[in-house]
Formats: sequence, C-alpha cells, structure tokens
Amino acid sequence: MQFILNDKEVNTQLPGGTLLLDFIRYHKKLTGTKIGCREGDCGACTVLIGELIEDELRYRSVTSCLTPIGNVHGKHVVTVEGINTETLNPIQQAMNDEGATQCGFCTPGFVVSLAGFCLSKSNHTYEDCIAAIDGNICRCTGYKSIERAAKKVSDLMLENKNEEPIEFTAKNKILPAYFTGIKKQLKEIQKTIDHNVDAKTKRFVGGGTDLYVQKPEEMIHADIHFAMQDGKLKGISFENNICTIGAASTVTDLMESDLFNQYFPQFKQQVKLVSSTPIRNLATFAGNFVNASPIGDFTIFFLALNASLQLSNGTKTRTVALKDFYKGYKEIDKHTDEFVEKMMFDIPSENTLFNFEKVSKRANLDIASVNSAMQIKVRRDGQTSVSSFEEVHVSAGGVSPIPLYLSETSGFLTGKELSDGVILQAIDIAQSEISPISDARGSIDYKRLLLRQLMLAHFHTLFPEIQIEKLLYAQ
Ligand SMILES: Cc1cc2nc3c(=O)[nH]c(=O)nc-3n(C[C@H](O)[C@H](O)[C@H](O)COP(=O)(O)OP(=O)(O)OC[C@H]3O[C@@H](n4cnc5c(N)ncnc54)[C@H](O)[C@@H]3O)c2cc1C
Ligand code: FES
Ligand code: FES
Repeated sequence: MQFILNDKEVNTQLPGGTLLLDFIRYHKKLTGTKIGCREGDCGACTVLIGELIEDELRYRSVTSCLTPIGNVHGKHVVTVEGINTETLNPIQQAMNDEGATQCGFCTPGFVVSLAGFCLSKSNHTYEDCIAAIDGNICRCTGYKSIERAAKKVSDLMLENKNEEPIEFTAKNKILPAYFTGIKKQLKEIQKTIDHNVDAKTKRFVGGGTDLYVQKPEEMIHADIHFAMQDGKLKGISFENNICTIGAASTVTDLMESDLFNQYFPQFKQQVKLVSSTPIRNLATFAGNFVNASPIGDFTIFFLALNASLQLSNGTKTRTVALKDFYKGYKEIDKHTDEFVEKMMFDIPSENTLFNFEKVSKRANLDIASVNSAMQIKVRRDGQTSVSSFEEVHVSAGGVSPIPLYLSETSGFLTGKELSDGVILQAIDIAQSEISPISDARGSIDYKRLLLRQLMLAHFHTLFPEIQIEKLLYAQ
C-alpha cells in the first residue's frame, strides 16, 4: 500500500486488511488518534481521508477503527498530529478557550472532525459545523463548551468568500501549509495505481463499516477486493430515464450529487437519521444491501424506488429486482462468486412523490426500530389536485426477517383514489403482510403500531391536505 500519512509518503507491505487505526498507532506510533469503542460509535479514532475525485482533492472524516489500509491506497490520511501548527491551531485554541476538553480522550477526534468541516465544500454555517461532529461522543463536557468552540470555528470559515478551503485554511494558519502541496503529490502517486483491478474470487469490502464490526480479526489476512478502489464500481449517472449508481458509491457521494438532490430534495435531511458523518462517508449501498439487515435504511429506501441490482461474476452479469433479492433471514439471491456491480431505478417523474421515515430509540447514531419508505406516482386533475395513484411502492424494515417490499399494500394502492378509507385499508393490508418479533428494539405490538404511524406519516407528508388527526386513532 502506498499513501501519504500527514506530510510523509508511506509504503507498506502489511496486508490490505490491516486496520488504519492499528497502523497509525502501533506501526507509526502516532498515538494522538485514540482507541475507544472500535465499532464506529465514539469517534475517538477519527481521521481525515483526502482523495482525488474528478481532479479535485476532497477530504472526508472516517473512523480509522473500521477502515482497512487497502481503502486508503493512493490517498492522504490526516491524523491529529498532521493538523498541528507551530502553536495551537485556531481549532485547538477554540477547544481550549471554551473549556471544551476535560479528560481529553475525545478531543483529538473532535479536532479532526472540525478540521474536516473546514476543508469541506459546505457553506460553513454553524449548523454544518455541528453536523460535522455528529459522530463524536464526549463523556465529560456536556457538549455546550464544544458547541461554543464549533461556533468559533464556523465563524472563522465564514470569513472565506471564494477561496478553495485548502488555500484559505493554509493562508490563515488554520491548518498547516503542507496541505497545499498534497494534490500534486497524490497525482504522482495515482499514476502508479491501477484502479481497474480484477474483481474475481476475492472477499468484497466496501467501507468496512459492517465487516470490521462483525469480524475484524478474520479480515486482517483475508484476500480482499477493495470495492471503493475499483473505478468500475463507482459513479452516479442519470440517462434515458434510468439512474445508475455504482455499487461502491457511498451515502456521502449521493448527498454531494447535485442531480440526486434535485430528484430527492429531502434526501440530505432524511439521511441525517442514518448513522453519522464518518460512517456515511464510508458506507456503500452494496454493503447495505448485501449485509441483508432487516432494518438496513438504504435497502428500505431503494426498495420503495423499485430498484434492481446488476450482479456479476466477472464474466457474466444478471439483473435481479431488489425486492426479490432477499430469500430469508440474511439469505440473498447472490452466488458466492458474484458481486454487486451497480443499482438501477427509474428516475422519478414530476408527478412522483417519495418519503422515507425511521424511528429509533435515539434520534442520532442508532439503527431503526422500524423504518419505511413510500413512492407514489400520482395522476393529477388539472394543475394541482390528485385524482389517483398511478403506481405505488411501499417498503418496511424491522417488521419481518427480511427488508420487506409490501407487495400487497403496493398493489392495493395502485389505481386507487386518495381518501381516508383507502389509507386505513392500506394500513390494514400492510399489517397482514408483516411478522415482527419482540426484541431489544421493541415488542411486536409496538412495531405494528410504529408501521401504522409511519404509513400515516407518509400520507401526511406527501398529501398535506389530509386531516391526519382524524386518522391517528381511527380503527
Ligand atoms: C456506528 C454505525 C452506525 C450505523 N448506522 C446505520 C444506520 O443508521 N442504518 C443502516 O442501515 N446501517 C447502519 N450501519 C451499518 C453499515 O454502516 C451499513 O450497512 C453500510 O451501508 C454497510 O456498507 P459498507 O460498505 O461499510 O459494508 P462492508 O462492511 O464493506 O460490507 C458489508 C457486506 O457487504 C459485502 N459487500 C460490500 N460490497 C459488495 C459488493 N459490491 N458486492 C458484493 N458484496 C459486497 C461485504 O462482503 C460484506 O458482506 C451502521 C454501522 C456503524 C458501524
Ligand atoms: S474507536 Fe470508537 S469510533 Fe473508532
Ligand atoms: S473530555 Fe473526556 S470524553 Fe470528552
């Protein structure tokens, strides 16, 4: 593996499955990066990864405890040591001045996430700055002091009018000057890297956010195909009424796609309910589909878009509807030699409405108790009023051993006119399609109630004219 670690180039013969966190601390003795949960939850191990994307150097925060070094080949890794300047930099100074560090264990993670905010393409508002630290947990401070420090950091960045964040942060000594030379260095390294790697026979790793939680030891010496390094598995395109998304695209790739956001204007808001910034920066769609969790948020999202997957064994390809991909608990329609190449779905028309809902025990950084999505293509009378539902797709998670496409509910709603009676009937049919179990995320009755309420939430969001209060307690 070859990459830049802070301001130095690194070449290592260690297996690609070695965790970046271990490499940084044990091989490079950079102990500023802390080990907390090793499961992506606490953010103590946060580092930045800089990657050349379409000739632009983009930095994203990631949890190094779930990142194999194979995923940083040809990239720039930044630890807290790599953002030190001669004295405390303004981010560290703000944390210090606001009393935002007590035992200090979480502090490097927060500082690195705030550095990631400074380097990001966001508008650098205070809200964006708070969102950038949504994957960092602090046991001591109570967060108010950290929020005040974040305010100071976002104020610094608001002074930037048009400059590239890398140039602006270097010029204003927010981050060290060596960052301005990284793009050129990476271009040189990239010349020696083949992105069209052969995808046969190997174990697939996307972002590693599932695999490295489940089996970190086993993965170190596994023969891995790093999907995120494979140019053929990347990219998002909108052509001939079809949206195609490469299997190794991450949630953040979609959040940053202008076209995707044009078709799904609520997407950025909806995905804030899903994990945290550093996990979304790593989590791929294929990883979400293949791990086959009955509550996988993106599986539920794309089931309601009636998406299909293209599978390949390197020689032959075949297409399978996502709704037919799940055969039983963690059983999928994929042969051992096949991998997911891409996902396709019809681009929504101007008469298509879409909504995603999720309920979890905590608002942030929690998996769903129940989640659901609904897509409705409406037929309209005149300009505004809806006359009927031309096509409907509804999905639900956490209510069956598999992520569920509600085929009977979808079939019932298709062709119907919007009315209170139709909504209540659809909810009854949905109840007959599900088979929830009681577990840590709720009892059977609670999950049934949640799906009922989430379906009402879909109709309420998509058709605000409905008097939803009447339906809340209707039998
Ligand atoms: C802290 C934390 C919070 C999380 N929160 C959420 C959440 O809110 N909602 C949610 O849905 N999930 C959540 N997850 C789970 C996880 O992040 C997602 O499921 C993610 O999409 C998995 O993608 P990945 O690329 O990281 O998967 P990986 O771990 O890389 O892979 C997962 C599985 O998919 C296989 N795979 C990957 N790519 C391919 C391919 N192209 N072809 C064939 N097989 C492939 C791998 O072999 C493996 O079996 C969370 C995880 C963590 C650690
Ligand atoms: S150690 Fe907790 S997120 Fe990595
Ligand atoms: S200062 Fe102790 S965990 Fe944050």
